[in-house]
Amino acid sequence: MAHRFYWCDTVNDPKNMKHIAIFASGNGSNAQVIINHFKEHPHIKVSLVLTNNPSAGVLRIAQQEKIISAILSKEALQDEANVSKILKALQIDYIILAGFLQKVPDFVVQQYKNKIVNIHPALLPKYGGKGMYGQKVHEAVIADKATQTGITIHLVNEKYDDGTIILQKEIAIDANDTPETIANKVQKLEHTWYSQAIETLINN
Ligand code: GRF
Repeated sequence: MAHRFYWCDTVNDPKNMKHIAIFASGNGSNAQVIINHFKEHPHIKVSLVLTNNPSAGVLRIAQQEKIISAILSKEALQDEANVSKILKALQIDYIILAGFLQKVPDFVVQQYKNKIVNIHPALLPKYGGKGMYGQKVHEAVIADKATQTGITIHLVNEKYDDGTIILQKEIAIDANDTPETIANKVQKLEHTWYSQAIETLINN
């Protein structure tokens, strides 16, 4: 089992502070936007970045932003006592998935019912499910000759990309779009809408 902490500064937080954990496996561009969004927020705070990938860019972001980070291998993520201990110690109220490539264990989904959010780079229920991530999603959209794609922000349940949809935003696909150009357009949408959707969910 591998996990590590940088430091903890939740002691002086106001009582009504809602603590967010971001789970991410990659670059963390969404994580960075979310961290920026909540930096000065009076009652929402990003208190943990958790990854399964020791070389994920998101770890550098966490370090720069002085946010506690934890690296949990696929096996360590299944260790209920340990995972619950980390989430409890940091008083985590909501879990935000931002490119997290492991399935969230069922015990976490049950502990955080309607409090885990994911963003998917297409219009679910199409182009989702196990193995549908990154370029694969955009390639499938193009192969399907779809005229539009977009983002889906949804609650997380025990199945991949299946929970209640909170928000979808569409964009048109042009004849000369490639998986790369679509990925860029979709990423802009993600950065525009994800933080706001999270804030609205927490406030309601
Ligand atoms: C995003 O496209 C998101 O939709 C998907 O994973 C990607 C994460 O990108 N779930 P980044 O690491 O935030 O740049």
